[in-house]
Amino acid sequence: MKNKKRMTVFKYTGLIVGCLIVVSCQQPKKQVIWQSYSGDPIIEQKVDSVLSLMTLDEKIGQMNQYSGNFASTGAVSDNQSGEYLKRGMIGSTFNVFGADHLRMLQEQNLKYSRLKIPMLFAADVIHGLETTFPIPLAEACSWDLELMEETARAAAEEATASGVAWNFAPMIDIARDPRWGRVMEGAGEDVFLASAVARARVRGFQGISDYRDLSKPNTMMACAKHFVGYGAAQAGRDYHSVDVSERSLYDTYFPPFEAAIDEGVTSFMTAFNDLNGVPCTANNYLYKDILREAWGFKGMVVTDYTAIMELMHHGFARDLKHGAQLSLDAGIDMDMISEAFVTHLKELVEEGKVSEKQIDVAVSRILEMKFLLGLFDDPYRYFDAERQKQVVMSEANQSLARQAAQQSIVLLKNEGKLLPLSTDQALKVALIGPFVDERASLNGEWAIKGNRSRSVTLREGLEAKYKGTGVQFTYAKGTDLPLLDRSTMKASKDNQPDERGFAEAIKVAKASDIILVAMGENFHWSGEAACRTDITLPGNQRELLKALKQTGKPVVLVLFNGRPLDLSWEAENLDAIVEAWYPGLMAGHAVADVLSGAVCPSAKLVMTFPRNVGQIPIYYNAKNTGRPFDAKAPSDYKSSYIDVDNTPLFPFGHGLSYTTFEYTNIMLNAESFEQGEAITLKADIVNSGDYDGTEIVQLYIRDRVASITRPVKELKDFRKVALRKGETKTIEFTIDEALLSFRDRNLNWTTEPGEFDIWLGTSSNDESNHFVISFN
Ligand code: NOJ
Repeated sequence: MKNKKRMTVFKYTGLIVGCLIVVSCQQPKKQVIWQSYSGDPIIEQKVDSVLSLMTLDEKIGQMNQYSGNFASTGAVSDNQSGEYLKRGMIGSTFNVFGADHLRMLQEQNLKYSRLKIPMLFAADVIHGLETTFPIPLAEACSWDLELMEETARAAAEEATASGVAWNFAPMIDIARDPRWGRVMEGAGEDVFLASAVARARVRGFQGISDYRDLSKPNTMMACAKHFVGYGAAQAGRDYHSVDVSERSLYDTYFPPFEAAIDEGVTSFMTAFNDLNGVPCTANNYLYKDILREAWGFKGMVVTDYTAIMELMHHGFARDLKHGAQLSLDAGIDMDMISEAFVTHLKELVEEGKVSEKQIDVAVSRILEMKFLLGLFDDPYRYFDAERQKQVVMSEANQSLARQAAQQSIVLLKNEGKLLPLSTDQALKVALIGPFVDERASLNGEWAIKGNRSRSVTLREGLEAKYKGTGVQFTYAKGTDLPLLDRSTMKASKDNQPDERGFAEAIKVAKASDIILVAMGENFHWSGEAACRTDITLPGNQRELLKALKQTGKPVVLVLFNGRPLDLSWEAENLDAIVEAWYPGLMAGHAVADVLSGAVCPSAKLVMTFPRNVGQIPIYYNAKNTGRPFDAKAPSDYKSSYIDVDNTPLFPFGHGLSYTTFEYTNIMLNAESFEQGEAITLKADIVNSGDYDGTEIVQLYIRDRVASITRPVKELKDFRKVALRKGETKTIEFTIDEALLSFRDRNLNWTTEPGEFDIWLGTSSNDESNHFVISFN
């Protein structure tokens, strides 16, 4: 909550640039690491001295970024990169890897660059470079900030050893619509948790406690993306318009970005969408008034892929030249792919439409980054082939990948304690489904250099885990995953799975004691541009489940997917459900660790699972409304559906364990407090079950009456507590004014006297430990 202490911006009418008034709120602005950079005169002097020698062409060249042909996420234009390279006019290139390869590219660049300005290499290292960690949504379910920092650190170690010094991560868009394919890249729906995750990942990538650490050869620039509102795409369709109130921006979509800045993030990326009528890539309000003016951000801003070009499709720019002018005016520093700056800025300066001063400002920011990274001291510092060999896919990183996957797996349902399937019993297990042997999808869509042929399949993991035990597996695929035709971006029509494999699957199931089914989404079905209007299991997988259920055997479903799914039938009819997400390199081992009980599941959902798509957007911290529906005393004309409950299928914070936890001796040292004071809440958490386990204890608060309507509850803190069987630990929370504060009608931080509900529980819908406190 400390990051709340900053300036705020409000305006009188709509998002009309020019109607903004910057005011200070009551709370002092927090001193942040990155802001302290603005006081470094040495770097500024160095930048000025280089800038003073540069021609206009050379300056504009620094603002120009190209992609290599690896992992491109848009049109690979018939670009002029070769031509511009020869003129020393490329500031940065992404999607290129390898110490030796990049050394060679840097050599070429320096050969042509008159002032020997090093090129900056970037990439989307979203969840590991070659060692693939679980997708970010999954990892966030671990609620383990240290772990997320560690995996980000490991990713940065591998990426920097492979020549890359700038990461297009973390993606910190709050997302509440599981139709949107990119929910897999973020940290879910909650502002508090996602902000904490943003900080952890920035810390991990940049590896810094001080900006000067950025020059170490194993640290890299992080990039907070996509600024902003991208996760609120209308109807969950990627790139679609975003129309959200200024309150939503401040309360929901801005906070993870503010948190990233507080943590010293060095770059921002624009969002593809238009926000309240103005495309983000040319949005003065966002980049000038908010990012620079109000938040004091000193790093650099890059557009998303071809986003300046897209200003024409938005109907916002007449042509590319106009787009270049609008983006520069908005405060954008680097043009990814569009070739708008490099083609048109000079002409725009000559015509007096933009000033060379504007260009100097942008180029200074880019050069500052290059100085901070130490590239001017040694342009080859990131190209250490020896380190690359040692670091990439190291034993340590692989074991971290297994640990991260174990911690990310959510046990959604476990009727009759069917799981775990212990290794010391005699059991015939029918292993069925398209994910039994599926390998390529396990890394998820954004695996960058993660080798899809190396991930451990479920079958391999289980066979290794149960080898030599009395647990025997028989197999049947049953059906296929429907694929995606990338040329039409539609589920492939010619290749729809049929039911030919059902009979064999049923036969295998009938001869078993228990059926373990592995299903999910092919990795192309979740990710950028992979949005769905039906979020049930694709193809005929549910049909196969229904047929298997008919056998009367217990059914355990293990899911591999990138978004919350509609599991309404599965939750009602199956005995156990394990959400494994896309677990990455060590998928099969990690899932086997959890299924066998070697690891007790502890992860909790960071995104609500709806009962059907009609409930979307559904998230735990909604408002109460004037006509709240009370399921215990239902009545007419209340805010509810006639065909489905208001409640989600699985709420935010939900996740089961094999063991049981009791919350006892919960004590508040006071029931009311005043400004400057705080209440201490203590509780004993007891592992009262049969397994060593870990509980994620969640603290929620509700402001009962306020000068604006407040959510029914908000996550304010949590503890992840590891407990041996029979062990008890005491945990403590401090409830102070900051935890009760919110933005008032003018968007200034305030805390209003009154009563507050406090819940301490195992999930957002756990109301068993409830207290009321007052703030006077
Ligand atoms: C488009 C994506 O929106 C963005 O997140 C990514 O960093 C760029 N492509 C570059 O790959």
